[in-house]
Amino acid sequence: MTIFDAIKNRRSIRKYKDVPVPEDKLTRVLEAARIAPSAGNRQEWKFIVVKDKATRDRLVDACRGQAFVGQAGAVVVACATDPSRKWHMVDVAIAVDHMTLAAHEAGLGTCWIGAYEEDKVKEILGIPAGIKVVVLLPIGVPDIDGVPRPRKALEEIVAWERWS
Ligand SMILES: Cc1cc2nc3c(=O)[nH]c(=O)nc-3n(C[C@H](O)[C@H](O)[C@H](O)COP(=O)(O)O)c2cc1C
Repeated sequence: MTIFDAIKNRRSIRKYKDVPVPEDKLTRVLEAARIAPSAGNRQEWKFIVVKDKATRDRLVDACRGQAFVGQAGAVVVACATDPSRKWHMVDVAIAVDHMTLAAHEAGLGTCWIGAYEEDKVKEILGIPAGIKVVVLLPIGVPDIDGVPRPRKALEEIVAWERWS
């Protein structure tokens, strides 16, 4: 699979098999986050991996009842460790995108989760004040093929040389 294949064919997966994520695959996905670029190479991030079923079920409630968050074998809670820095959201987003692509290559499914109550997530996982939860990423063995979602045409989103 080329990088472009992974970018093109990755889909949000919202149904997972009730099986654990193989350790070697999970480690590879996390490695893809570890080696992501960040502004000034600061790497001001922390990725909490939740495999415990009871904790995942509590995260469902914190994610406005999105049940598939509890189905996936693992949930990565991606945090910015210095949210005062200008690029903290960008840095964490790049690392998370690396994870989605590495997971896809490994035959795993993911789905970005932005609809969560940060206070609840922090309370469940003991995340200290001053740390920002940027996004949650369920990772699991897909139980469904993702549905391709429409994208704007290139002509609509690209301008050449100057704004038009
Ligand atoms: C920052 C961000 C937050 C998102 N939050 C949610 C979410 O809370 N729940 C959900 O089901 N999908 C969520 N998504 C997934 C988007 O709906 C999805 O990426 C988009 O519809 C395109 O579909 P695709 O990922 O299959 O290409 C989120 C995506 C991003 C990038």
